[in-house]
Amino acid sequence: MNPKWWKESVVYQIYPISFMDSNGDGIGDLRGIMSKLDYLQNLGIDVIWVCPIYKSPNHDNGYDISDYCDIMKEFGTMDDFDRLLQEMHLRGMKLMMDLVLNHTSHEHPWFIESRSSKDNPKRDYYIWRKGKNGGPPNNWESYFSGSVWELDPQTDEYYLHLYSKFQPDLNWDNPVVIDKLHEMVQWWLKKGIDGFRFDAVAHIVKTEGFPDALNPGGTQTVRAYDMFSNLANVHTLLQNLHDQVLYFYDIMTVGETSGLGPEQALDYVGDGRRELNMTFQFEHMFLDAASAGSGKWDVVPWSLLELKKIISNWQTVLHNRGWNANYLCNHDQPRSVSRFGNDLFYRIPSAKMLATFTHMLEGTPYIYQGEEIGMTNIAFDSIDDYRDVETLNYYEEKRSKGLPEAEIMGAIHKKSRDNARTPMQWDDGDEGGFTTGVPWIKVNSNYMEINAANAVKDPDSIYNYYKKLIELRKKHKVIVYGDYKLLLPEDTEIYVYTRTLEDQQLLVILNFFEREPVFELPPEITPGTLELLISNYTPQKEENLSYLKLRPYEARVYLRRLYSV
Ligand code: GLC
Ligand code: CA
Repeated sequence: MNPKWWKESVVYQIYPISFMDSNGDGIGDLRGIMSKLDYLQNLGIDVIWVCPIYKSPNHDNGYDISDYCDIMKEFGTMDDFDRLLQEMHLRGMKLMMDLVLNHTSHEHPWFIESRSSKDNPKRDYYIWRKGKNGGPPNNWESYFSGSVWELDPQTDEYYLHLYSKFQPDLNWDNPVVIDKLHEMVQWWLKKGIDGFRFDAVAHIVKTEGFPDALNPGGTQTVRAYDMFSNLANVHTLLQNLHDQVLYFYDIMTVGETSGLGPEQALDYVGDGRRELNMTFQFEHMFLDAASAGSGKWDVVPWSLLELKKIISNWQTVLHNRGWNANYLCNHDQPRSVSRFGNDLFYRIPSAKMLATFTHMLEGTPYIYQGEEIGMTNIAFDSIDDYRDVETLNYYEEKRSKGLPEAEIMGAIHKKSRDNARTPMQWDDGDEGGFTTGVPWIKVNSNYMEINAANAVKDPDSIYNYYKKLIELRKKHKVIVYGDYKLLLPEDTEIYVYTRTLEDQQLLVILNFFEREPVFELPPEITPGTLELLISNYTPQKEENLSYLKLRPYEARVYLRRLYSV
């Protein structure tokens, strides 16, 4: 089973701008994080993944870095960072940095030089091309709407940006760029940080020659995903990064790699590949999209059978060969309880059921800030209250094409990244205790009911349920390393699986909806052998385990010994 600390860990993701504001400017910051370490320690998490905190003009909340070795001034100083790291280490927590290697900010000094003239020595740090037929060099569409190419009048050439035009892509064909990036990664490792989440790392290599993507319609931009994702050379570059830099440190690494299945993921995380420990896969994030090709905004109902198929495939293919990163939410996704649970009538049980699901899978569980108190999606009436660059670009694009306002806002309410970015709800005071000033984005008005202070106090809260799940992980190796097996693959309402390690077996029973289906215990399992480890409901008196009627969103985890001595 090849034990590793990062397999046994639970990761908590912090989106700093929305976590905790220490100085009343409405923006979360490092001292804010510091002031909440006790809260996180009490929860029991091992690793904090902190989203980018580097110097940045903040067009994409820090994912546009203008200096890799400095701290965003709104977040604090390098001294604050050093103290934060020290305080975390004192508490036995580790820190995973979020690093953007695919692009920088347009305000990075490299880009400022690069764009200044065609013969500037840093011209080739980025990707510059001449236009074609009076337009951009090809028809690739950016993640954040429009072409990936932006014409720069200074030199009359286009630069490539897979994300917003404020995020020019670095040129990984240039060995000087690679050297500089390696040096910088090493600089952070020497500071004593404990790992990296590599942002958008699947995209650092683009198809040679930048050919047009297939475009039956003519001149429009098209989704050219395959032309810049998971290409073979990404692996060579990651292996070099690993062998020359990462290898020398005991760290954990996770890559953001959309667009692949588990077999391809093994190229990143397979034992012996010398690349990454884990990747974030996206297959289950597209369950509620009409098609991967149509993008995320075209929302359809998701199906449990599909979820089972996807997750089971990842669980079985990676077992003993790689390692999973299990998550249902992050700063780019809607809130998990609003998306996969029921935030109207069953918020608490459904949030607990979803937590049971991710924490009982094989792999490292990730908790996104606020998920542990069951924070929900936001639906602002006006586009003026949204802040996310992807959302704003989407709105503009659809408005300019004449789509009705209501339809656009409907999609935004379901899928905007701002759903996960409203401030953390700490207590029932003004602005949910996030700031004494005016928050950079509005606080969800349900903070009076949903907040951390209430949750910590209430023994039956979602927070205390998470705490228990984490405690169980520390106690039972089978939760970390057990082999996954899906039961009842065709059941459309209940998700049941076992995890087996030597003579220990977990039986995980999850009712994913509000109906009350019956779970029939497989005949080979004797009810008397089952020990209940955790549930989001109190077991009924004298219940018949062989024929168990589940309550809405009920979750149960049983432990049993396979061979009695
Ligand atoms: C990743 C980040 C996202 C960011 C993008 C560009 O997908 O998770 O927040 O906007 O990369 O850096
Ligand atoms: Ca602040």
